[in-house]
Order: sequence, then structure tokens, then C-alpha cells
Amino acid sequence: MKRKFIYFFVFPFFLLLLLGSFVSDNGYFSISQKDVEFHIPKGFPQPFYDIKKNIPTPAGFVLGRKLFYDPILSKDSSVSCGFCHQRIAGFAHIDHALSHGINGLIGKRNVPPLENLIWSNSFMWDGRINHLEVQPLAPITNPIEMNETLQNVLKKLQRNREYVTMFKAAFNDTIIDSRNMLRAISQFLALMISADSRYDKYMNGEDTLSVAELSGLQLFRDNCAQCHKEPLFTDNTFRNTGLAMDSALQDSGVAAINGDMKDFMKFKVPSLRNVEMTYPYMHDGRFRNLKQVLDHYTKKFTPESHADPILVKGIQLTELEKADIIAFLKTLTDQKFLHDRRFADPNGHF
Ligand code: HEC
Ligand code: HEC
Repeated sequence: MKRKFIYFFVFPFFLLLLLGSFVSDNGYFSISQKDVEFHIPKGFPQPFYDIKKNIPTPAGFVLGRKLFYDPILSKDSSVSCGFCHQRIAGFAHIDHALSHGINGLIGKRNVPPLENLIWSNSFMWDGRINHLEVQPLAPITNPIEMNETLQNVLKKLQRNREYVTMFKAAFNDTIIDSRNMLRAISQFLALMISADSRYDKYMNGEDTLSVAELSGLQLFRDNCAQCHKEPLFTDNTFRNTGLAMDSALQDSGVAAINGDMKDFMKFKVPSLRNVEMTYPYMHDGRFRNLKQVLDHYTKKFTPESHADPILVKGIQLTELEKADIIAFLKTLTDQKFLHDRRFADPNGHF
């Protein structure tokens, strides 16, 4: 009797449990309602993106994440968004000056980090895109990035049973259209919020900074914060920092879009959050480390460079002061954001 009980009840029970653990969603990647709740971090302004019009749901976020990490969005299924935007590098591309796309083609620009995007009203180094929800169309159709058409992407998704099920779960529609695809990706991008660095903890009275870091913060406020405005570390403007145009790339920034020489070499003021991890720096990745960036800012620029009035005379900094600023910049590294499991590649490439 006892043995029968083991064979008929206990053994099958454990077998089912074992099977269940294989098929069930690995807890690491599962997304709950709590995971997609949106709060404006303390001290942050109202975002530009109206999240109420596309409220993240677990199903929508998981779909957006799957799309972000799926090379199906590219012509030959070789390049995903996550291929260029790597989580551990604050979603920039670690150690690459210029982006690499389909067939190993090299782009013209450095991959920018993705963080706090809903507080931005213009995207790309030259600001040529003004809405988060249309942003993904640019890399998908760019011949040297993903080189695909929107029509083809939708066709491929519609043929894929898993996607049909996921779109149904997220938007209650089995017809996959571009609007819902872009809304899902935006739900994922919108929640990429970095607001938990040591700097933030210091501002909220939860951590202290060292003497060097505090000196760096003061120097930063005196010399850098007009453009890299707290708490987002950008004022969302476009400025000329006195860089000479790279003769091979011939990239003149905003002027290349509008033809106005007043905008020659103007590029978006990037956020400096997680800047320790997003090297190399500037629109073309010309500086390998923060010391090189600071050495650049202490140069005097000629009037022909059209450098911003704040920078044209060169910022005066001693070597020690540069080191303090760098120490401060490293307090902007947000370990919680960089290791946030919600943003990890669900295919298991950590
Ligand atoms: C081949 C590499 C590559 C791929 C693939 C790629 N990106 Fe990018 N991304 C870049 C580069 C380079 C830029 C900056 C381009 C510029 O300024 O002209 C950028 C810019 C962005 C920006 C603007 C950030 C800002 O602060 O202005 C967002 C958002 C973005 N990408 C999201 C995505 C999404 C979503 C996907 C997938 C649909 C994607 N990217 C695929 C390289 C890539
Ligand atoms: C006049 C506005 C302005 C001021 C002042 C300014 N910056 Fe910048 N900063 C920019 C712009 C614009 C860029 C992007 C330039 C480019 O890509 O060509 C940039 C880029 C950077 C980068 C590279 C970030 C990246 O992701 O590539 C760092 C680091 C940086 N600045 C730090 C500083 C520090 C530190 C100071 C003060 C010593 C400072 N900036 C002062 C406008 C400014």
C-alpha cells in the first residue's frame, strides 16, 4: 500500500514539479505589475513623454523587451537594438567609437546611452527625431544599421505565433500593426530610468560623498551644469563644444540637418548619468576616457571653431580639479539601473 502510494502519487507529483520548473518563466525575467509602475523620481521634473497615453503593462513591457532584443527587426536577423545598446554600458556600446550595424558596416556616430528618455524632447546627436515612439523606425530602416522595411518587419512578426500571442496579450489585437509595435518598444524604453546613483542618494540625504567628490560637484556646478543641468545632467539643448570636425566623417551636427551655419558642430548635450560606463565619448567617440574630455574643455578655442560662449575661453582647471570632477562624475554610476533584471536580455545573454 505504502509503495503504491509512492508510485501513484508522490513520484508523479515530483515529476510534474520538475517539469514545471523547466517550462515556467524563469523568475529572473518575469515582470509583475509592480515592475511596470511609473513614478517620477524625487527632484525630477515632469517628463515630456505623456506616459498616460501608453501606460506600461507587464504584457506590453515584456513584448517591448522581446522586440528590443530580437534581431528579427533587421534584414538578415543579425542585429537587434540590444546589439548596439548594451545594458552594462548604460545601453551605449562599450568600447566602440562608432556604431556597428548589419554586415559589419560601420556607422558615423557613437551609440548614445539610453536612460531617462521620457525627459527628452529631441533624439539623436543632432535632434532630428522629436518623439520617442517614432525613434525605433530610424535604426530599423537605416541601411547601415538594421536595413529592413517596416512592412517586412510586420510581416515577419505576423508569421510568428509567439508574437501574435504576445500582441494579443498586450493590445488585445491579433493583427500586428506598427502603432502597437512602437508602443510596446516605447513602454520598455520609457521605464529605463536611472535615478539611484550615489549622487541621487547624496541629494536625498541617504549617502555621503568624499571630500574629492564634493569638491568635484562644486566645480561641476560652477563650470559644467549650465549645459549638463541637474538632475538629468542635460538641458536638452544643442551646443558646439569647440571640437574640430572629423575630416573623414564630415559630420557637422545640427547644421547638416538644417543647413544653417550657426548650428555648425552643434550636438545634443548628453546626460552624464552612468558616464563612467559609456566610454568612449562625444558624438564620434573620439575621446577614450574622461581625462581626455576634461583636457579638451580646458583648451582655448579660436573664433572660427564657433565654440559656445561659455566654453570659448577654455575652462580653467588644475590637474587636481580635473581629478575631482572625474571623481564626482563617477558618483553618477547607477548600479541598480545597470544591473536591473527588468532590462536584461530575456534570451539569457546577460
Ligand atoms: C547599428 C547600431 C544600432 C542599432 C541596431 C540601434 N541603435 Fe539606437 N542608436 C544608435 C546610434 C549610433 C544612435 C545615435 C544616432 C545619431 O545620432 O545619428 C542611436 C540613437 C538611439 C536613440 C536616441 C537616444 C538619444 O538620447 O537621443 C534611441 C532612443 C535609440 N537609439 C533606440 C534604439 C532602438 C529602440 C533600437 C531598435 C529598434 C535601436 N536603437 C537600434 C545605434 C543603434
Ligand atoms: C556649453 C555647454 C557645455 C558645457 C559648459 C559643458 N559641456 Fe560637456 N558636453 C556638451 C555637449 C554639446 C557635448 C556633446 C559634444 C559632442 O558629442 O560633440 C558634451 C559632452 C560631454 C561628455 C561626453 C559624454 C558622452 O556621453 O559622450 C562629457 C563627459 C562632458 N561633456 C562633461 C563635461 C564637463 C565635466 C563639463 C565641465 C568641465 C562640461 N561637460 C561642460 C556641452 C557642454
